[in-house]
Amino acid sequence: MKAIQVLKPGDIQIVEREIPKIENDDEVLVKVKYAGICGSDIHIYHGTSPVATYPRVIGHEFVGEIVETGQNVMHLKTGDKVVVEPIYYCGKCYPCKIGRPNVCEKLEVLGVHRDGGFQEYVVVKKANAHKFGEHLRWDEAVLIEPFTIACQVTWRGDIREDDFVFIQGAGPIGLAILQYAKYRGGICIVSDIAESKLTEAKNLEADYVINAMTQDVASEIRRITNGMGANVTIDAACTPKTFETAVNVTSSAGRVVVMGFNEIPSQIPQFMVTKGELTICGSRLQTNKFPEVIELFNNRKLNPTALISHRMHYTQIKEAIKLVEDKNQQVSKIILEF
Ligand SMILES: NC(=O)c1ccc[n+]([C@@H]2O[C@H](COP(=O)([O-])OP(=O)(O)OC[C@H]3O[C@@H](n4cnc5c(N)ncnc54)[C@H](O)[C@@H]3O)[C@@H](O)[C@H]2O)c1
Ligand SMILES: [Zn+2]
Ligand SMILES: [Zn+2]
Repeated sequence: MKAIQVLKPGDIQIVEREIPKIENDDEVLVKVKYAGICGSDIHIYHGTSPVATYPRVIGHEFVGEIVETGQNVMHLKTGDKVVVEPIYYCGKCYPCKIGRPNVCEKLEVLGVHRDGGFQEYVVVKKANAHKFGEHLRWDEAVLIEPFTIACQVTWRGDIREDDFVFIQGAGPIGLAILQYAKYRGGICIVSDIAESKLTEAKNLEADYVINAMTQDVASEIRRITNGMGANVTIDAACTPKTFETAVNVTSSAGRVVVMGFNEIPSQIPQFMVTKGELTICGSRLQTNKFPEVIELFNNRKLNPTALISHRMHYTQIKEAIKLVEDKNQQVSKIILEF
């Protein structure tokens, strides 16, 4: 079978490998059908991931069909369509014990710390394979994982009905968050520096959009919210500056959710946090969110394909990476067919 492997930073190849074998009773063999390219895959390729190890078969957003099951697998059978939850955790450390395994001390993510989904076959633990509705197409279901990120973010931000929610960045993640925040009843304001991204946000029913290049973000937020500020601000642009903006434009008793991997410090005066008792929290991956998101997908409550800008064959991986590197504004989510 073929696998897309980053041998070392800057060196990505399609390599020939043995089809992996089920070694434990609680594992399943999945034939991969579709996989999405995420910013973190590109970081691993560029050598800028703070966590990845090499050589690595990348990819953590993937769906496929069960082709073999271990002895101790009852709830899945050959032919089932599944999405793979890409995290492995210890179950014993403090975060695991309090139900937050996504930030386990020994966290391992498929495609980052262990070989991932950019290969024709993968063996995963049965608990990591979630079945979804037969009626969903592969190119829809491949967006389940990014929507679990959005689900987590909106949970961390505790979005309530009629909250003003400000989402910075309308890339695929920002647009998934927009859809989830709307589903939770938020009034959504989206900013980006690219007009084409704002058009996409409007098409997905953003209530307001702000062009952060040409408009003053803070005064726009004040105007839209009658001086109150956004109740929940989510930084899906993930720059040092947008983190500062987030704290600056959030209302008293509001929540700020950050989700970036940027290591450059932001300047945030403590009084800005104290005066309105802001809650600032991180959001990473997801905690047991697959069932909820799959239910929404099965019932077609979300519009996953709106995030897709390119569908390519996995053999075009180098062209796909080039598209992302060129920072073309027309590029949003690229999905690969296997
Ligand atoms: N914590 C997690 O679990 C998690 C998971 C997935 C992605 N992420 C992070 O989320 C971020 C978004 O992911 P993505 O795939 O949508 O990335 P992306 O690069 O496609 O989108 C970022 C968007 O932000 C916009 N932007 C840049 N500067 C801005 C500014 N000053 N104001 C407003 N918008 C601005 C860009 O034009 C772009 O549209 C990335 O940084 C990624 O690493 C985190
Ligand atoms: Zn991802
Ligand atoms: Zn743990």
